[in-house]
Amino acid sequence: MTPWSDGGERVAVLGIGSVGTLLTYFLNKVGIEPVLIHRSTEFTFPVLKDLQSGEATIVRGRPARLNELADRSLEVVFLATKAYDAPPAAYGILRKLRREGVVVATQNGLGTFETVKSFVGGGRALALVLNCGVHRAEPGKAVFVGCSESFLGPSTVDKADEVAEILSFMPLNVVAEIDQFRWLKLGVNAAINPVTSLLRARNGVVLTNPSAHYLALKAVKECEAVGKAVGIVFPRDPVGELWRVASATKDNYSSMLQDILRGRRTEVDFINGAVVSRGVLVGVDVAVNRSLWHLVKELEGFHYD
Ligand SMILES: NC(=O)c1ccc[n+]([C@@H]2O[C@H](COP(=O)([O-])OP(=O)(O)OC[C@H]3O[C@@H](n4cnc5c(N)ncnc54)[C@H](OP(=O)(O)O)[C@@H]3O)[C@@H](O)[C@H]2O)c1
Repeated sequence: MTPWSDGGERVAVLGIGSVGTLLTYFLNKVGIEPVLIHRSTEFTFPVLKDLQSGEATIVRGRPARLNELADRSLEVVFLATKAYDAPPAAYGILRKLRREGVVVATQNGLGTFETVKSFVGGGRALALVLNCGVHRAEPGKAVFVGCSESFLGPSTVDKADEVAEILSFMPLNVVAEIDQFRWLKLGVNAAINPVTSLLRARNGVVLTNPSAHYLALKAVKECEAVGKAVGIVFPRDPVGELWRVASATKDNYSSMLQDILRGRRTEVDFINGAVVSRGVLVGVDVAVNRSLWHLVKELEGFHYD
């Protein structure tokens, strides 16, 4: 029997946006109808449209606001907010977590997993490096483009294998060292996201436009240098990974560009900003990441007024 499939009341997804909807869809496929922790006044069950099959599915679960949940009732919480919303949300779920409960951080970039670890302890914090494409087409509707291999870890966390089992409908590897995969994705995001946002172009622009290509290459190389300086052993060549991802997603719009176009805050502080703050600490030149970070903040600034 799949772990926690006895109704799903001990499994929760916090943040029912694109990723929250996709994770709920995968959990539904193994018979789990999780607690759907939301913050809206009226909850509508979201629809997931799978672009590959063409099917649209209403996901199933038990909607609840955080304060409606009993203390110490949850064993697994998937934290699926944006990175900037994650610290208060993670703090809020502390009381709702059983002593042996784990939190799974799904955020791109650096910072959220570290915050979650500091709240619940390293033995109860998992990071999911989610290599899936899903975006909100309209409120309550997520469009799922597809997944390549994702990574969950560290495997030393007691429940890592059980969490992987309930996500068996996505290609997922449990790994001992998750930080190297987080940094590998950080390099790709630090290159593609700001450059496509500044040029308002699809991901493929970093392959076809010489200036975009140059900037993306500089950004990923800085990230690689910072990562190595802080002790990260990259599982693959970050530059090769950048061109591979850019090619596989060449027709997509990056999440950062989508946020800019919708007038929403981006996660640039946790991506290029994170490369810069760590680079400064270890004395690595991060001029390109700093410039990209500041320029995207300028783009965001238009929407703060
Ligand atoms: N989308 C992808 O393809 C993808 C892939 C890999 C990783 N990720 C990472 O996954 C994370 C989530 O991305 P996303 O695209 O799913 O974002 P999203 O669509 O904006 O969804 C975030 C959801 O979190 C909710 N939320 C925020 N604070 C909350 C709180 N305190 N309590 C309850 N709900 C709360 C938001 O509610 P409101 O609607 O009220 O704001 C929203 O529904 C990001 O950090 C991203 O880097 C995304």
